[in-house]
Amino acid sequence: MSLKEKRVVVIGGTSGIGLSTAKAFLDESAQVIIASRSSSKLSDAKQTLGGNVETYEIDFRSEEKVADFFNKIGKFDHLVITAGDGAMGHFSELPVADVKEAFDSKFWGQYITVRKALPYLNQEGSITLTSGVYGIRPPKGASTLAAINSAVEGLVRGLAVDLSPVRVNVVSPGIVDTPMYAGMPEEQREEMYSGIAQQLPVARVAQPEDIAQSYVYLAKNGFTTGSVVLIDGGAHLV
Ligand SMILES: NC(=O)c1ccc[n+]([C@@H]2O[C@H](COP(=O)([O-])OP(=O)(O)OC[C@H]3O[C@@H](n4cnc5c(N)ncnc54)[C@H](OP(=O)(O)O)[C@@H]3O)[C@@H](O)[C@H]2O)c1
Repeated sequence: MSLKEKRVVVIGGTSGIGLSTAKAFLDESAQVIIASRSSSKLSDAKQTLGGNVETYEIDFRSEEKVADFFNKIGKFDHLVITAGDGAMGHFSELPVADVKEAFDSKFWGQYITVRKALPYLNQEGSITLTSGVYGIRPPKGASTLAAINSAVEGLVRGLAVDLSPVRVNVVSPGIVDTPMYAGMPEEQREEMYSGIAQQLPVARVAQPEDIAQSYVYLAKNGFTTGSVVLIDGGAHLV
């Protein structure tokens, strides 16, 4: 299925996996619309991606803002969501408020966005959400992400049935070198990446481009729905 001139919306398309995904869709000659909260990230992304991209400032946790966004952009073909904040911390220590905040972002943000997108989405199009390998293989301190990612994958299976013939899938990445870890001191971050790389069968952490290809594949392959594409360098095996 060609993506040429198809309208693709990437929520979270200003950074990391989303930015690379926007680029990968542009390489397929799609028309790409990216959205996130920060106006400076939006203008940096527009510069990186080139003038062929529309940008919108939204917070996907707000039903009103998301509805307004889809109303502005009108009909489109494929929806990709990579936006979402998680929360790490031991189950008995992480404040419940932090857990709820993470659900508000990564679970409810994706839920609300799909809900508000529906009136504008081409019935021959697709929706691709994002979970993460911690859904099936959580290390210590990842119980919140295990719950959120599993909830997102469960939602996708239900949506694939409810929203048919629209196809609904989810990409589950392992550890990816993105600005999500920009808050860590560089030395600590590099140590974390190399520690993880040593354990992984592929012997490295992912780059965002590795993951971006999965979203393109799911948009193009008309026989995929309800699928979880696990792209984790073998993290689920170790
Ligand atoms: N990196 C990893 O190791 C890894 C592993 C497994 C799963 N994942 C998942 O992959 C997804 C993307 O991660 P990433 O590493 O690419 O993160 P990232 O580089 O931090 O990018 C996140 C993007 O989402 C946007 N965003 C965040 N909250 C938003 C909100 N409330 N409304 C609208 N946009 C919002 C951010 O822009 P603004 O700040 O401008 O809003 C940014 O564009 C996340 O769901 C993450 O949990 C990542």
